[in-house]
Amino acid sequence: MVIVMRPDATRADVEAVAQTVGAAGGEAFVSRGVSRTIIGLVGDVDRFATLDLRGMSGVADVIRVSTPYKLVSRDHHPERSTVRVGGVPIGPRTVTLIAGPCAVETPEQTLAAARMARAAGATLLRGGAYKPRTSPYAFQGLGETGLRILADVRAETGLPVVTEVVDAHDVDLVASYADMLQIGTRNAQNFALLQAVGAAGKPVMLKRGMNATIEEWLMAAEYIAQRGNLDIVLCERGIRTFETATRNTLDISAVPVAQRLSHLPVIVDPSHSGGRRDLVLPLTRAALAVGADGVIIDVHPHPEQALCDGPQALVDRDLEELARVMAQFPPMLGKTAA
Ligand code: E4P
Ligand code: PEP
Repeated sequence: MVIVMRPDATRADVEAVAQTVGAAGGEAFVSRGVSRTIIGLVGDVDRFATLDLRGMSGVADVIRVSTPYKLVSRDHHPERSTVRVGGVPIGPRTVTLIAGPCAVETPEQTLAAARMARAAGATLLRGGAYKPRTSPYAFQGLGETGLRILADVRAETGLPVVTEVVDAHDVDLVASYADMLQIGTRNAQNFALLQAVGAAGKPVMLKRGMNATIEEWLMAAEYIAQRGNLDIVLCERGIRTFETATRNTLDISAVPVAQRLSHLPVIVDPSHSGGRRDLVLPLTRAALAVGADGVIIDVHPHPEQALCDGPQALVDRDLEELARVMAQFPPMLGKTAA
């Protein structure tokens, strides 16, 4: 069951609802969004039905939810949400380009990549300081040194920072530098980590697990929402299939499906899904055409020297083409570049 509070509901109204639910043996999970607060109820739904929740001050609606994910479902939240990251919107009216290096390697490389990204139309900077690598011998990221580099590059370029956190113990540290926390595909069902970022007070980009169904992806988002954070952006980044020509298979249909099931914005990562530079622009065009609210793209000033994922990083002329796509596509789709 979900309770949707009126936009003018007070904190006391929300607390009164939570107390009533608690007194009936249930638990209330409060999520505060930009325009309204939603309370997810866990417990005996039949018992809740006997309470006059609808008549309580500040309550706009009480909804029995049939989907296993309540707070991120579109059932009770028909309008699609916009999430703001350092003032930059990601949502239904805009197309947002997030770009930058896969991994933060040096201050010079990160600044050069950020300038390339901004010239192509990026308004948010991506870059990993903690890298989830298949091999324990591969470059694991610079850790806090990398976070400091990202903060310096943000100060230099004005681009807010999106960066991955891979361990629940590091969430507060990463959140103290980042404008948006990224959960990668490998941690997409790390429930302790999802709960920790849900409580961190920063917007979260949740990548789809490479083996996750759309429903599992939305349930993962629900873990974050349940901790009080509805500022979540879903990112389709390709799934495991039998195909070996690409690194993963971009599930393009996941974009409209997830947008229909959830009010959260949905973006696409054409870099990690294809894993090949020559596919990044075609997949970007496809993602925008199918309605993605943005894309997240790897760029590197010297991909051949990259410590992580060089073969998928855009460079030079690719970025001019990316800039053209970012200028041409949003107006065709009735959107603006964020
Ligand atoms: C990148 O951002 C990931 O860390 C990378 O794609 C991991 O892949 P790999 O370790 O298998 O190279
Ligand atoms: C990344 O974007 O840096 C990353 C590790 O991506 P994914 O989790 O999608 O592999």
